[in-house]
Amino acid sequence: MRQIQWKSPSNIALVKYWGKHGVQLPSNPSISFTLGECTTTTALKWEHGSGKVSLRFNGEDNAAFTARTEKYIRSIETYLPHLPGLDLAIDSVNNFPHSAGIASSASAMSSLALCLCSLEQELSGVEMDEKDFFRKASFLARLGSGSASRSVYGGFVSWGRAEQLEGSSDEYASPLPFAVHENFRELRDSILIVDEGPKAVSSSKGHELMKIHPYAAERFEHARDNMLNLLEALKNGDEEAFVRIVENEALGLHGLMMSSDPGYILMKPGSLQIIEKIRRFREATGIPACFTLDAGPNVHLIYPSREAEAVHELINRELLVYCKANRRIDDHIGSGPQKS
Ligand code: PMV
Repeated sequence: MRQIQWKSPSNIALVKYWGKHGVQLPSNPSISFTLGECTTTTALKWEHGSGKVSLRFNGEDNAAFTARTEKYIRSIETYLPHLPGLDLAIDSVNNFPHSAGIASSASAMSSLALCLCSLEQELSGVEMDEKDFFRKASFLARLGSGSASRSVYGGFVSWGRAEQLEGSSDEYASPLPFAVHENFRELRDSILIVDEGPKAVSSSKGHELMKIHPYAAERFEHARDNMLNLLEALKNGDEEAFVRIVENEALGLHGLMMSSDPGYILMKPGSLQIIEKIRRFREATGIPACFTLDAGPNVHLIYPSREAEAVHELINRELLVYCKANRRIDDHIGSGPQKS
């Protein structure tokens, strides 16, 4: 069998995607930065056959992921005309715990979408220009997992139609069309692993609950405002606004989950302790360190690299005690996926 391989990073959303409609279209625009260290490496082997799909995850056969992947592949075949009839053997390896509030579906689905686009390009013999290639990969990744659409690019990435971003679309993500202020070019993200277990509720369920959420309309409106203000802050270097918006989005997301019906509490006591301590540290030092969370208990501590020493001291002194087996992952803004 011949092989294609892509390594793709996870991303951390600053303005969150939470709620969708139609075929995986977002109810509000979102923005994230792509990580550098938390990655999935996907190897795709293929040969002409009868259209069988098999998947190994972290070195083991995984029936649940195989079924999900097969369904996904069948659903995107119309965009990949050379795919039907190929036997595919997919081998996906994560270098970080999955389903624990680090968007593992983002790195997994983006690396798979990139492999499928490379395969299509190879079999069709038509070289796509780079922009079209990544746009198609983002489009296909989105159909697997919304947040994955943002992981095909490095740096700051937006997904979803936003008036102030020319060329933005609900169908695919795009890198920001302007250079962010130097204050934000070297952001770090220390992920504090409060709990490694699987999530109490899947993000699909969470998105679904937004369809009947009493605050949905206001949320989507508020996310648009946060998006607009965050873009301004990224342009002009306003760290105070950045911190305010990022934390508002994180707590807003968890507030939505708590006020869903049924409601979910995905933070753990340790998550709250960490949040409290980050805020106290910021007040005491003036260092613009802030937190965000995805749909899970782990806390992403975001800070500029110039403050790394002081923040690492805080982590070691006050935050690690709330982490499972003292676990944390020191990550940073990254440059995007790589083919190997
Ligand atoms: O891509 P999904 O369906 O796993 O949703 C991800 C949702 C959040 O991670 C909570 C927010 C986001 O924008 O990444």
